[in-house]
Amino acid sequence: MADQAVVTAGSAHSADQTRLPVVVVGAGGMGRAWIATVLRSRSARLVGVVDVVDGAAASALADLVPEESQADVRTGTDMLQVARAAGAAAIIDVTIPEAHHPVTADALHAGLPVLGEKPCAATLTQALSLAGHSETTGQLFMVSQSRRHNPHLREAGRLARELGGAGIVATRFSRAPHFGGFREQMVQPLIVDMAIHAFDAARVLVEGTPVSVTATSYNPAWSWYDGDAAATVVVRYDSGAVHTFEGSWCSPGAETSWNGEWALSCPTGTVHWDGEGVPVTVPGAGTDGGGGQDPVPGRAPSEDALWELDSSLEVFCQAVRGRGEPDSEVHENIWTQAIVEAAVRSAAEERTVHLSEILDAALEAARELDRADGRSSALEQWDAARSWTGDAARSWNTVGAGGPAV
Ligand SMILES: NC(=O)c1ccc[n+]([C@@H]2O[C@H](COP(=O)([O-])OP(=O)(O)OC[C@H]3O[C@@H](n4cnc5c(N)ncnc54)[C@H](O)[C@@H]3O)[C@@H](O)[C@H]2O)c1
Repeated sequence: MADQAVVTAGSAHSADQTRLPVVVVGAGGMGRAWIATVLRSRSARLVGVVDVVDGAAASALADLVPEESQADVRTGTDMLQVARAAGAAAIIDVTIPEAHHPVTADALHAGLPVLGEKPCAATLTQALSLAGHSETTGQLFMVSQSRRHNPHLREAGRLARELGGAGIVATRFSRAPHFGGFREQMVQPLIVDMAIHAFDAARVLVEGTPVSVTATSYNPAWSWYDGDAAATVVVRYDSGAVHTFEGSWCSPGAETSWNGEWALSCPTGTVHWDGEGVPVTVPGAGTDGGGGQDPVPGRAPSEDALWELDSSLEVFCQAVRGRGEPDSEVHENIWTQAIVEAAVRSAAEERTVHLSEILDAALEAARELDRADGRSSALEQWDAARSWTGDAARSWNTVGAGGPAV
């Protein structure tokens, strides 16, 4: 199998050597979206596609890469073989969540920075472990939370800051998709697979660090999901801000956008965002009470603004080149994963869960995981506080414009 693991249609040489050479790992639905994203990127170029299923990478290549460029892209089933043969400088991990930990850890230890699809890993324990592997190797691991890269969301945050900062944030999410497949068998499909986006987006909008989560989940009688397709989740922050997510994946009729509908209550007014268009400000009437004034639209994004995956990839490429620290670098993104895990536990145990509780337990388990693995002891240096402050200055190896890392 080893000698079949790398298939080269031709030279891996590209006309544009200044863009970061990347390999996309995982050629499923989202992997294909990432291949298309890299193909239109001004900062990255596709040099390889990998999938454990024999032929899947080649099939994605044939479907998505223009025929004249296919010779520049290697395909195979073994990530490190393809990366080396292709001269890759970075990996985009779009595998299933269960594979995120091994794929990302192997890439980091091979000297390759990683841009990984959400979630960071299948469990909070594995996510903490990956933060340790990133520290040990000195390689950047950024988690792509694509929905935080929405210019309208950023504008909603800016408007809220103008009104004194969001203190009460409400997300209403209501859709009725029939996915089939794994989501309809999951115990907590909405919280784990969908609400993670809203939890992460709220972190863009409010000041502070999440402290505790109180969640209720349920499954209406008409639901076509095995697990709980609806939930209400309350996330409290140390700044005093509270984010409430109220969502359903089995509510036909008046559906919201995929981003949900947002209301941000601030000291001097409210910001409304429908999840699709430009957010609006509704200023308060002043100290005499009464209703608000007419809505004032926020700024529309510039025509050349990058959205979602395109923006996420650009931020990653710049960070790998030593320009800027991405806000969803692994240490920062762990908070989003912790909210998800706390919400699942809160719903199961019908109690408020403090993030410090699950982070402490996950840190201990991650140390065990890393001891068994033997490649990273970085977490042994973490004191308990560091596991939830997450605000230390980060640095990582950078790749010069001239050349790949392997
Ligand atoms: N940001 C978003 O809006 C969004 C949307 C959908 C999916 N996702 C995320 O993207 C990731 C992939 O989801 P998907 O829907 O494409 O799943 P998928 O099942 O369609 O594809 C995953 C692919 O990874 C491959 N794979 C599994 N283990 C591998 C390994 N060890 N090495 C190489 N390839 C491996 C599988 O063979 C499969 O082809 C998940 O983490 C998911 O949560 C994000």
